[in-house]
Amino acid sequence: MSKEELYAQALEATKFSYSPYSKYKVGAALLTKKGPIFKGCNVENASYGGTICAERTAVFKAVSEGYTEFSKIAIAESNDGDCTPCGFCRQVLSEFSKDGSILVICKINGELIEMPLRELLPHSFTF
Ligand code: THU
Repeated sequence: MSKEELYAQALEATKFSYSPYSKYKVGAALLTKKGPIFKGCNVENASYGGTICAERTAVFKAVSEGYTEFSKIAIAESNDGDCTPCGFCRQVLSEFSKDGSILVICKINGELIEMPLRELLPHSFTF
């Protein structure tokens, strides 16, 4: 699957974003190694710490359905602007990509990039 195709699905996922506080709608599309794609959006909470990012929604949906191996994840915000995964989400992704080989697709300076997680989170914490 091309980076453009997966990114289009991430953009589509922004439509379900629940973000009444920040008004910033984020979507993610996670491609599993077995084939299915899990989509996620950010879900905010009046108690701000209860908010979950789009990427983690997608990862937790997949893991809770028995899919723990991923090849790519795309992240988008609803206006098609730059949106890179936050540090917390990078760490969560690294849990399911110990070698950091999962490819992260997102916009940086208006350009759609695809790069391995290990470049976005070098020397990630492992236990
Ligand atoms: N957000 C994400 O969904 N993913 C990220 O990687 C960065 C931030 C969400 C969380 C919150 O609902 C809003 O964007 C503003 O921080």
